[in-house]
Amino acid sequence: MRVGRAVALVLLVAASAFGGAAGAWAEGDKELGEYLSSECVTCHQLSGKFDGIPVIVGLPEQTLVHALGEYRAKIRDNAVMRAIAVKFTDEEIAALAAYFNSITPETQ
Ligand code: HEC
Repeated sequence: MRVGRAVALVLLVAASAFGGAAGAWAEGDKELGEYLSSECVTCHQLSGKFDGIPVIVGLPEQTLVHALGEYRAKIRDNAVMRAIAVKFTDEEIAALAAYFNSITPETQ
């Protein structure tokens, strides 16, 4: 009985520690993101103008993180983005997400 409770407690602590880490992870380093974004903006327009390539400026952070995760996991089927997504760590993707989210698309 006691052992069971101790295990439950450990799991609870581990879960909240993990939750905390996930929260911090979601907050990417914008400066690092800006630095890494030079590769993205050759295709994705910083102005937010659509020219056949999806607009990613102003995208919610989770959406960008999720999308790149799906390219990495080969759930999304685009060879270019798959090749790009696998090059970045989770931290770098969070940084990219924070940076692109911080940009306001120009209204046309
Ligand atoms: C060589 C051109 C190119 C480069 C460089 C590039 N992308 Fe893409 N990206 C695309 C294309 C094309 C698509 C649409 C693919 C599809 O239909 O799945 C896309 C899709 C995406 C999507 C999904 C958008 C949506 O609305 O679903 C995200 C997010 C994204 N790119 C982020 C990035 C990031 C971040 C970088 C830089 C690390 C980057 N891309 C670099 C061409 C590029």
